[in-house]
Amino acid sequence: MNKSFTANLAEADQIISEAIDNETRRQSDGLELIASENFVSDAVLEAMGSVFTNKYAEGYPAKRYYGGCEFADVVENLAIERAKRIFGAEHANVQPHSGAQANMSVFLAALQHNDKILGMNLSHGGHLTHGHPMNFSGLNFQVSDYGVSRDTETIDYDELQKTAEENKPKMIICGASAYSRTIDFQKISEIAKSIGAIVMADIAHIAGLVAVGLHPSPVPHCEFVTTTTHKTLRGPRGGLILCREEFAKDVNKAVFPGVQGGPLVHIIAAKAVAFGEALREDFKAYQEQILKNAKVLAETLQAEGLRIVSGGTDNHLMLVDVFADGEGITGKVAEKALDAVHITVNKNTIPFDKNSPFVASGIRLGTPALTTRGMKETEMRAIGKMIAAIIREPESEEIKTKVKKDVAELTAGFPLYEQRLMKGKTGTISAA
Ligand SMILES: Cc1ncc(COP(=O)(O)O)c(C=O)c1O
Repeated sequence: MNKSFTANLAEADQIISEAIDNETRRQSDGLELIASENFVSDAVLEAMGSVFTNKYAEGYPAKRYYGGCEFADVVENLAIERAKRIFGAEHANVQPHSGAQANMSVFLAALQHNDKILGMNLSHGGHLTHGHPMNFSGLNFQVSDYGVSRDTETIDYDELQKTAEENKPKMIICGASAYSRTIDFQKISEIAKSIGAIVMADIAHIAGLVAVGLHPSPVPHCEFVTTTTHKTLRGPRGGLILCREEFAKDVNKAVFPGVQGGPLVHIIAAKAVAFGEALREDFKAYQEQILKNAKVLAETLQAEGLRIVSGGTDNHLMLVDVFADGEGITGKVAEKALDAVHITVNKNTIPFDKNSPFVASGIRLGTPALTTRGMKETEMRAIGKMIAAIIREPESEEIKTKVKKDVAELTAGFPLYEQRLMKGKTGTISAA
């Protein structure tokens, strides 16, 4: 065989190899607080990097359009079976390449072009695919929206009922990207029933919590449930659709050939591995710790004088109002200042934000990734104080130097991907 075919990555492509080493070091040396990110296990990484990437397997197990799919079938069948077991669902489609494509597939399965939908406003915590004007969901359907109340900053179910009655959508979409409170899926499903609508619950963020019963499940109440597999669920990047048997055919047809071509069998293999991990007893303890960590982080930030949207969190994330009606700094400045000391967060609008999404009044913080590293309440208290110090004085070189040192000491105590770091000796973090 050609030597260039058998060379390892470092020999074959130095630039990419170094970029991977540097990214591994960045993840290891920083505090990852982006609520939608996590660190997958070595087993999940191994499955993703497997020869299944070579395989075309259009269709579904035992009904493929290509030969040689017997092992692809093993992988996909196991992923389906485990997904159904985790969520108590009648049917699972594990092929969506992403959360957005899972949602698009449900729209295709359940709706006709130009039908009416009702989704949560993006600036109140919803997702682009729930009806944003620039997304397929907003471009192809008539959208009305609901949000949180000004007083409590929690979902206003009365307003939701009213808007549903006024607009008569065919489908209500619930689930969120930046909402820190428990979502009452049963209530939303009752509202939908009262107007003859169906419900799609997008649990992309909270899937891990739902998997172990730490957040009420939408599965018994909602016609369609979608999720990403890479957030609290801690699998490879990808999507998943759950539904009752009666919708199985339509969902499968919508994913393939409706929205996608060949499934990513290597990713499905990694999903199966991650689902296997989620079925283990220690996954529940992990999710419990995510919640404890989020509570302590929110309380620490509050004690440091920062306002948490809705006054706290019931899940893995929180929105911090860093703008404080012009008294503080913008989310954009906060994100950059924290990045400079290797604390990674994202700027985020807060409900009724006066700043644009590119500037934003808030930052969104989540604990799934740091909890995977083994950090607990003590570390959350320390991190909360570091974040508050930077937000109070984002320009102070003295504080930046101190926090950067504290981050380095803290992360050194919680090794991540050690063997990979040892293999790639070139990794050097290059952020400011
Ligand atoms: C609620 C929700 N749905 C869908 C998605 C889209 O997932 P993906 O980025 O895999 O397309 C996200 C991603 O952030 C999300 O938060």
